[in-house]
This record gives sequence, structure tokens and C-alpha cells, in this order.
Amino acid sequence: MKAPANVKQSIDFLRQICKISALKSQMCGIFGYVGSRSDAGQLVVNGLKNLEYRGYDSWGVAQKHGSTVAVTKDTGKISSVNAEDFSEECGLAIAHTRWATHGGVTQQNAHPHLNSNSTIAVVHNGIIENYQELRNELMAKGHVFLSETDTEIIPHMIEEELRQTDDFASAVRNACHRFTGRYGILAFHTESNTLVATRTGSPLIVGVGDHGYFIASDIPAFMEHTKVVQYLDDGEMVVTDGQSILFTDLETGEEHPKREIEITWSVEEAQKGEYAHFMLKEIMEQKDSIARAVNQDEQQIQVIADAIRNAQGTFLVGCGTAHKACMAAEYFFSVVSGHHVNVTSAGEFKVHHHFLKPDSLLIVVSQSGETADVLEAMSIAKAKGAKVLAIVNVEGSTIDREADYTLLINAGPERAVASTKALTGQMAVLMMIAYAMVEKLHEGKTLLLNTVSMINDMLNPRYIALLEEVAEEIQHHEDLYIIGKSWNYPMALESAIKIQEVSYIHAEGFASSELKHGPIALIEEETPCIALVGNDEVTPDIISNTIELKARGARTIGIAPKNNEAFDTWIKVPDAGAAQAIVNIIPIQVLAYFLAVKRGKDPDMPRNLAKSVTVK
Ligand code: M6R
Repeated sequence: MKAPANVKQSIDFLRQICKISALKSQMCGIFGYVGSRSDAGQLVVNGLKNLEYRGYDSWGVAQKHGSTVAVTKDTGKISSVNAEDFSEECGLAIAHTRWATHGGVTQQNAHPHLNSNSTIAVVHNGIIENYQELRNELMAKGHVFLSETDTEIIPHMIEEELRQTDDFASAVRNACHRFTGRYGILAFHTESNTLVATRTGSPLIVGVGDHGYFIASDIPAFMEHTKVVQYLDDGEMVVTDGQSILFTDLETGEEHPKREIEITWSVEEAQKGEYAHFMLKEIMEQKDSIARAVNQDEQQIQVIADAIRNAQGTFLVGCGTAHKACMAAEYFFSVVSGHHVNVTSAGEFKVHHHFLKPDSLLIVVSQSGETADVLEAMSIAKAKGAKVLAIVNVEGSTIDREADYTLLINAGPERAVASTKALTGQMAVLMMIAYAMVEKLHEGKTLLLNTVSMINDMLNPRYIALLEEVAEEIQHHEDLYIIGKSWNYPMALESAIKIQEVSYIHAEGFASSELKHGPIALIEEETPCIALVGNDEVTPDIISNTIELKARGARTIGIAPKNNEAFDTWIKVPDAGAAQAIVNIIPIQVLAYFLAVKRGKDPDMPRNLAKSVTVK
């Protein structure tokens, strides 16, 4: 076949050379089970514990006992709940971890919510945007609401619809037709042994078990029971009695056939193992996860590189840490391949849509594959006829499924809210593409694999202990600054995110050259300042900026391959050349972890944050 000459041909070509699963995945704190097991209550409580990493402030469970619903809900952590307390015989249960949006963190606002006579139980992720109007309508009909949530209108609306039909699933469908917004809903009725789920925007995945069906917002909820899944797409509904399952179009009711897919992540990968926290485990895993990211089909990488070269404008977007991977890639493409790409935070992409043409390429980067701002950027690009390439970790996620083509980074499950191994995997993949653009894929791959082996040496117990000591020394400071230049500049921004989100220290990252244009005024005696340094042509500049900080009294910490008198403390990193950004961020991740632990914070579940940001 002729080499692809434009983005569209490249994507088509990629589809031919690779086995793309027609059905790709999932995502915030929903879990339900129906089947022949009699421990449904216990089962869903344990499943919720596996979804803890998403971030939440309250939890709840509804069990169907004969023709009644037993609801238990509370604020606080599900980890302290004893699953044995839910051992009463039960074959159908739903559960939820809530992160407050509409209404405060109270027991009353926690899900599940019930209708007027407590016969319908519902858990819900997302937002029902027109809930106020619907609530007024329902109140006018005599419905009484016990919470401040948008969710509570759902069981009441289903109750209203049940006046028109005997069929519970039809009542749920008709109720959903009244809702606007993005949601994932699980519901059951005491009159039937059926679990009903609908999805528009908030991920839901079905687990196919030997003794029934599981429906969850994320696979770890049921991974210990089954690795066979079926993905619910937006605008679909699923109904199961535990023996059979039916997927339909939420709008029309038309049946949608589904494939069963076997997931490859192991249960062990999704557990903490010997580590005190997922964050540390995931940091330490990078010696393997980067290697997996690098181990891509070379032909695919080359075709993608050619597509970027042929595109009328390549745009890279992501949010938070993934956005910093895009920013680092801007330097890779500039320095390694001499090619300009346009990088924006996904949430800002809307403003730049004028520059998209049908022959433009949008590259979206995401760990979860569920980030709402990224999905919006994809819709904007598609509306302009542009092609979308996704670089994601979670196979089958919405971004994976909606992209024209996906490159998986294969980092394995990332459960700590702070993204670590996904970032380095994303950067490794983007760096390989940059090398492939100048026909140097093998050089790039060799560099990255050498870097992996240097990271393996670096992450030894003595090194980790040194970082713990540094954390001990600076833990009481409330301000911390990080500087970088070239590809270390996005890593300075990423360092700030990592330290902020887990330790709650006010950390800020700057391009080192910017210091004298304002931020240096913040420096006081002993203010900790970290310099991310490489061994390249910008090194003299950043060393000189570090000396300026030291002269103003800062306590300077250099993360660098070589020591320098500019550093009060030197954290040695291997000299990784163009891959220095990947190496330099790792000690920062460890430092952020220890800062959190020493300040008594839970690094896996930072306050106010969720693992997947599925709302805009
Ligand atoms: O799942 P995504 O990579 O799309 O998530 C993007 C951000 O929400 C995420 O990177 C966030 O910034 C992390 N908490 C950072 O550690």
C-alpha cells in the first residue's frame, strides 16, 4: 500500500495495520450487583472499597430484601465500614461513593435516594442540569424531598412514570427522557428483581460473572470476581435480572448487541501489595511501566509521526498532569524533530477551534480516558472534520472509544489520585513519536530504554531514604518554588501540581528565566526552591538563575546529573539527555509523597479531588 499522504489516510492505514477493538471502556463511585449470590450487600461494600481512590466524602448502600429496601448511608470513609455488617441474605444491591456537588456533605445527601414510598432506589453520578425545574414540577404533584441533591428527583420521576407503565425499565427510560445533563444511573424497584442502568456521559461497565452481573463506574469494583466486561455506551440502557442482560438504545429502545471483552489488568496490579500507599507503589513501578509504554508497534509510531508531519496543524491537549506531558512534548517536537505543535489545556481548546481544518490532527492525552474537558475538545475537533488520536492508559475508556485511533501507554491501573506513572508513560510515547518524525525511532527507543534502566538503578532504598530526609527538612514550609528551563519547565509546573495536591503546600513552578520578572520577590530567607536541571545547552542559564535564588536567601535543592555550588542540597539524577524531563520528575514525585505523609495527609486521596474529572 502507498504511504499515507494525509492525516485521514494515516488514520485509515493505522486501522488496517492494527487490531483495533471495535469496543473499547468505562468511570465515579457506583457499584451494583444482581445474581444468584446471597451476599450482595457485602459484595458491593467491598467493591466500593476498591473505588475509594476516586475521591469522595460520603457513601451508601441499598439492599433489596424481599419487597423492601434497606438503605445504609453515612458521611466519611467506606474503609472503616465492616462489610460483615451487610451479611443479611440479599441478591440485589447498589452502592455509591459521593463527592458532594449539589448539597453539602451530609448523611441525608448521600446516595442511594428513594422515592416517596421507598420502593425505588437510585445511585447516580454526574449532574441532572434541569433538576430544579423537575423538582418544582414533582413537588407540585405532592412529592416530598428529603435531600438537597439533584439525584433525589430521579426515583421520584421514575415513580411518576410507573403510573403510566407496569414495566420498571420502561419507567426508568421515560424518566431519563426528562433529564438533561451527563449522568450514569443505577436503579432497582422492590417489585422486580431487575437492575437497570443508563448512561449519558458518566461511565458504566458491566462485569459478566458466573453467578450474576456487576455494574460499576470502574473495573476495580468487580475485578476480583470477573475480568469479562461489556461496555455501556453513552445513550444506552442495560437491564439485567442476574441471568440475562439486555442492552438497548436509551432513546428508542432498539436492542444493541454487545461483545464481551476480557481485560488484561491483573488483580495484583490493582492492589497496594507491600506498599503503604498506591502513590508510592505507582512511582516505583515506573521502571517497568515506561518500558511497557516504549514497547509499541514501531510501524504504528512511524505512521503517527508521518500523520503529524502531513497534518495541517497538530494540536495537543490534556488536563492537569496530562497537559504537562503535552507541554513537554512541545519541546520534544521542537528540539528533536524541529516541528511545531500547538499545545493547550483541554479546557481552553474551545477558544482555538478557529485554527482547526479537516486536515488537522488533534492528539488528546489522558490517563483515565474520561476527562470531560478532553472529551469536549474531541467533539470540537470532530465537528471540524479533524481526526483525533488518543494517548490513554485506560483501554475502553470513553476517550479511547471515541478517538479515531488510540495508542495505549500500558502503564497498568493508576489508582492514586496523583498521576505519576501515567505521566512518564505519556512522555515516553510522545518522545518516540518525535524521534520517528526525523526517521530516528530506534535512536529514541534506545535512549528511552537506557533511561528505564537508569531509573531502575536510581529507585533504590538509599535514594528513597535521601528523599525522605529532604522531605523531613522542608515539610514545615508553607511555600515552595520549582524552576525549570526547556523541557524541565513543564516538569516544574508538574512538580507544583504534585506537591500541591498531596501535601497541600503552596507550591509554584516557573520557567527559570521568568524569576527576575516577578516571582523572585517571593523569596525569603530559607524558602525552599527546587531547580530541575539537565546536562544540555540551557544548563548554564538555570544554574545562574539558581544562584540568583540562593543570593536572595533561598534554600536551593538541585535535581541534576551534576552537583553545583548553586545547590544547598543536591539530589543526583542520571544524565538522560533528551529524556531528562522523564527522569527529573521522579524524585519530585517521591518528595511530594513523603511531604504528604509527613504532614499527616493521605497521598492517595487528596481533599477536594477525584481521580477522574468527568464534569466540566
Ligand atoms: O485522567 P486524566 O489524565 O485525563 O486526568 C487529567 C487530570 O485530571 C489529572 O492529571 C490530575 O491533574 C491529576 N490529579 C494530577 O496528578
